[in-house]
Amino acid sequence: MICCLVSKASNMFRLVGTSSLKCGTETTGSGVLHKMIVRGLHTTQNLAHGEYEWKDPETEDEVVNITYIDKNGNKIPIRGKVGDNVLYLAHRYGIEMEGACEASLACTTCHVYVLGDFLEKLPPPEEKEDDLLDMAPFLKENSRLGCQIILKKEYEGMELQLPQATRNFYVDGHKPSH
Ligand code: FES
Repeated sequence: MICCLVSKASNMFRLVGTSSLKCGTETTGSGVLHKMIVRGLHTTQNLAHGEYEWKDPETEDEVVNITYIDKNGNKIPIRGKVGDNVLYLAHRYGIEMEGACEASLACTTCHVYVLGDFLEKLPPPEEKEDDLLDMAPFLKENSRLGCQIILKKEYEGMELQLPQATRNFYVDGHKPSH
């Protein structure tokens, strides 16, 4: 049912579809009252995977400097920001962290070693991350999945080392059907 109050309401809310608007009726002693419920709409822009990491920090307050160490031992300092996923940040700067499953916790190709005491600063891994890490080649005590590390200000100075090799079992184990 299309309600006549839509035009007034639209001045306050940007209506995108009828799903955001609900109309109903309610009977009272004097007749029928129209009842309208208008929900607030999401105005946040949806970002594709990794798109956020391509934005530069807007203020120095959100800068988080970290260092990747590649398989050859080269240190690559990167100026990240709060909220960056270290997998997608690595992609932005051409660092070889694969991320075959696009951060959906279905591979170990984003395996990294978290150096120093930063391991304790990270939130503990979910059970799923632990299960995957058990299958990662060159597993160490300080192993984590890079796609599960989201930068916070207190990670300033963190060093992430890439392992010698990763196993892309998500792809390697694929058996094509004919
Ligand atoms: S990219 Fe697959 S688990 Fe991180």
